[in-house]
Amino acid sequence: MLFVKLRVKRGADYQSYEVPYEEGMTVLSALQRVKEEIDPSLTFRHFCRAGICGTCTIMINGFPKLACKEQVLPYVLFGQELVLEPLANFKVIRDLAVDNDGVLKKVKDMHLWIKEKRGQIRIEPELSKRIESSADCILCFACQSYCPQVLEEGYAGPLFFAKLYRLYLDPREEEKEKRSRQTILEGRLYHCLSCNKCNNVCPKEVEPANLIRSLMKLMDVPV
Ligand code: FES
Repeated sequence: MLFVKLRVKRGADYQSYEVPYEEGMTVLSALQRVKEEIDPSLTFRHFCRAGICGTCTIMINGFPKLACKEQVLPYVLFGQELVLEPLANFKVIRDLAVDNDGVLKKVKDMHLWIKEKRGQIRIEPELSKRIESSADCILCFACQSYCPQVLEEGYAGPLFFAKLYRLYLDPREEEKEKRSRQTILEGRLYHCLSCNKCNNVCPKEVEPANLIRSLMKLMDVPV
């Protein structure tokens, strides 16, 4: 029988667990098995279990990933332990659960959505395709947790500017110039290093770094 080895960060320590491997097992299902059969006190977040809600993101062997999408089989076959930690750059509530209220509040404070114009506005298919990737963001916070600049003073982070890209391009937004320049200043976009780390970890291929570069070009912001 094959076993999944988990090493879970719990506060200042790590705790090891082992559960039998089942076909199609994900990191989330392995954690659920631990919770159901070994340790009911183990805390982690999840909701849809289908890679849609973005709730289950944790650090898996050093990378932010959706626990419900990450298959354990490759780790099991190579006899590799899964080291599970709470998302970096976030305050830990307990075990693998982090406090993301601050980031959600900032999204609200910065009003990163379209204040629709009156009447019907046709969006050309080509433009719709361009803004599609920004709209695919599921607020999983993987980019925020892997960005080396997020802890720089006042830098909002890749998530905010990927959302701003959509706002800037969407023809329904009446005050895009004013609002976008304001957001760039408030969110201190100049801290972005263009290192592409956010591109590499986004599970929805939003590619925030590419959107940030396009946004800067469109708005003629000096890099
Ligand atoms: Fe919803 Fe993983 S539980 S994305």
